Amino acid sequence: MPMIRRSIGAAALLFVGALTLQQCTSTSTPPAPEAAPAAPELTAVVSVRELMASLIDPLADNVFEAVAVDVTDKGVVETKPTTDEDWEKIRQGAIALAEGSNLLKIPRPVAPADDYVSKNPEELSPAEIQAIIDKNRGAWNAFADGLRQQGLAVLEIVEARDTDKLFQAGSDIDRVCESCHLTFWYPGEREAVTRARESRAFKEPVKK
Ligand code: HEC
Repeated sequence: MPMIRRSIGAAALLFVGALTLQQCTSTSTPPAPEAAPAAPELTAVVSVRELMASLIDPLADNVFEAVAVDVTDKGVVETKPTTDEDWEKIRQGAIALAEGSNLLKIPRPVAPADDYVSKNPEELSPAEIQAIIDKNRGAWNAFADGLRQQGLAVLEIVEARDTDKLFQAGSDIDRVCESCHLTFWYPGEREAVTRARESRAFKEPVKK
């Protein structure tokens, strides 16, 4: 019996304690937000062309150039990652591709205004590219997702330090880049590019 009374007393004390605590904290707690904040509006800074030239292309090279076999006068020269720094560079490339896919999905002009200088007649003008994007936004986003998948695959390779898989990864990334370019940028070159790829397949497995 005394046991029970004591525990009731303890419970009452706890209750009072809880009330006091609540009063203390209620004055210092900021008011709860009325609604979840809206997603931030994302605004592109540069055009697709500049995103390619300044971010996607140079950082993809971190992956493309990580492994190579060059035949030189002095014999066969093999390049592959050996140090932590080498692998860190590849990770930077992988993250740029994976996150770059999000950037590609933010609507942005194809090229800076009044900046159309194509040396290749097969390349469409920014206005033509824009028209195809507008009609095929789903395909555009799917190619962006392809880049994300490749970036994630390279991140796994970096975790596993699996040099052998880097060769294939470079070629897989290149295929995504080229597929998007062939769809939106120089569709007239599909046949030539496919032919070049096939003739290269056995002689030159490493993308430089
Ligand atoms: C979602 C589609 C898409 C993907 C994926 C893509 N590109 Fe592009 N890229 C474009 C378009 C469109 C242009 C042409 C813009 C223009 O008019 O100059 C372009 C242009 C370029 C250019 C030319 C930039 C310049 O200064 O003229 C380079 C280099 C390039 N891409 C590299 C790459 C590489 C490397 C990858 C893969 C790692 C890649 N791109 C993936 C759509 C894409």
